[in-house]
Amino acid sequence: MPTNETATLTFRGKTFDFPVLTGTENEVAIDISKLRKHTGAVALDYGYVNTGACKSAITYLDGEQGILRYRGYPVEDLAQNSRFVEVAYLLINGRMPDKNEREQWSALLNRHSMMHEDMRHFFYSYPERAHPMAILSAMVVSLSTFYPELSQHRPEEPDEAINIAATRLMSKMRTIAAFSYKKSIGEPFVYPRHDLKYCANFLNMMFSSPVCSYEIKPEVLQALNILLILHADHEQNCSTSAVRLVGSARVNLYASVGAGICALWGPLHGGANQMVINMLEDIAASGKSVQQYVDDVKSSKGGKLLYGFGHRVYKTYDPRAKIIKASCDRVLKALKINDPMLDMAQELESIAMRDEYFISRNLYPNVDFYSGIIYRAIGIPKEMFTVMFALGRLPGWIAQWKESREDPMFKLQRPRQIYIGPNVRMVKEAERTSEL
Ligand code: SDX
Repeated sequence: MPTNETATLTFRGKTFDFPVLTGTENEVAIDISKLRKHTGAVALDYGYVNTGACKSAITYLDGEQGILRYRGYPVEDLAQNSRFVEVAYLLINGRMPDKNEREQWSALLNRHSMMHEDMRHFFYSYPERAHPMAILSAMVVSLSTFYPELSQHRPEEPDEAINIAATRLMSKMRTIAAFSYKKSIGEPFVYPRHDLKYCANFLNMMFSSPVCSYEIKPEVLQALNILLILHADHEQNCSTSAVRLVGSARVNLYASVGAGICALWGPLHGGANQMVINMLEDIAASGKSVQQYVDDVKSSKGGKLLYGFGHRVYKTYDPRAKIIKASCDRVLKALKINDPMLDMAQELESIAMRDEYFISRNLYPNVDFYSGIIYRAIGIPKEMFTVMFALGRLPGWIAQWKESREDPMFKLQRPRQIYIGPNVRMVKEAERTSEL
């Protein structure tokens, strides 16, 4: 937090001192909130590579060391010893639930698992090939029309209203995801059941049907819990920043999360998990070797990407990718699946990890590289992969949205720019028109 240290800037013959602050893990920031007032200049930082948007107590990650902790707990520990709904509680409330709170949270998630029957009909208006991320974002924003308790944009939303909206969202988004899958395969919706816990309920809604029940295998349940935990938050990534930015205009939680879903859809972000499988399928269909594909990527000079590789923050192996890769082997063995895509992914990783092009650019597998292999093994189609990412990331979005509203420094987010367009000019005679 605040230190006695200052950063001195000399600009146009004047010297300015800016306060320096440090975080819990000794990260250092220079507070430039008075930069324009003192110097008349703004800072320019494409992609916000060097710019912090806020202080946050939710997630800590160290890109050099490959460390990721939620509220101080290492993800390795949480993936091994907790269920996704407990990690969601931790992210949203700042501490692990005790036995009573766990039971209450579970009961609330069940109570709010259904959606208004009128919303069911929305699904039938989408074209057959509608991407589930388009459906998910529209349905989540539409929740604000059925549950208006948070839609009046009142500055001081009562905590109770925010907590109910958060619980509704956590539970209903899972139902919406499963319904969008059933719609895409032309099967009837399977409703949530109160005798099943979060992940089991999801799997049942996805894969059971009126004519056959679905056997929920413990290995699949464990893999799904781990995947959702590993996606649960990741500090100020693109989609979380979208949730915070939209939320900074005092937009309700549902619409702010809708913005996060749209940002996550991008192939450079959460959409990469679907792109990894597309890439592996392209390699298989091209008849080229994996080495030839990697060579094409290198010679494309950034035109062609190795999806599932690289990260803005991690300049080492993404700790989540390590856990997912290990989980891959376990799930495929338990389900007796031999997926050639896994062999191809492992071959691609081993080639890239020995190649100077990737090593020199700190390009390692990220969370998206192996996750699709597990989703495939579970039976989830690749169009649903980013929906799965969104389900995992939801508690993080909720926690970050809440934290930003509770921040004493809460402000409407509105970056500045450097204008490079034409100087002032008037409408020429020939350009004038009087037709209105
Ligand atoms: C997620 O931010 C988060 O926390 C995100 C996330 C989360 O949990 O929320 O972790 C989830 O989004 C993971 C990332 C998923 N995206 C992909 O897998 C898409 C492929 N990756 C790239 O698009 C890229 O690595 C980014 C966008 C993820 C990060 O890019 P940066 O930080 O903007 O880095 P850059 O584009 O400046 O790349 C530096 C160099 C460039 O080459 P040079 O110009 O120096 O010659 O590395 C190259 C890039 O061309 N490069 C790649 C590459 N990623 C970067 N070359 C080939 N394949 C890649 N994947």
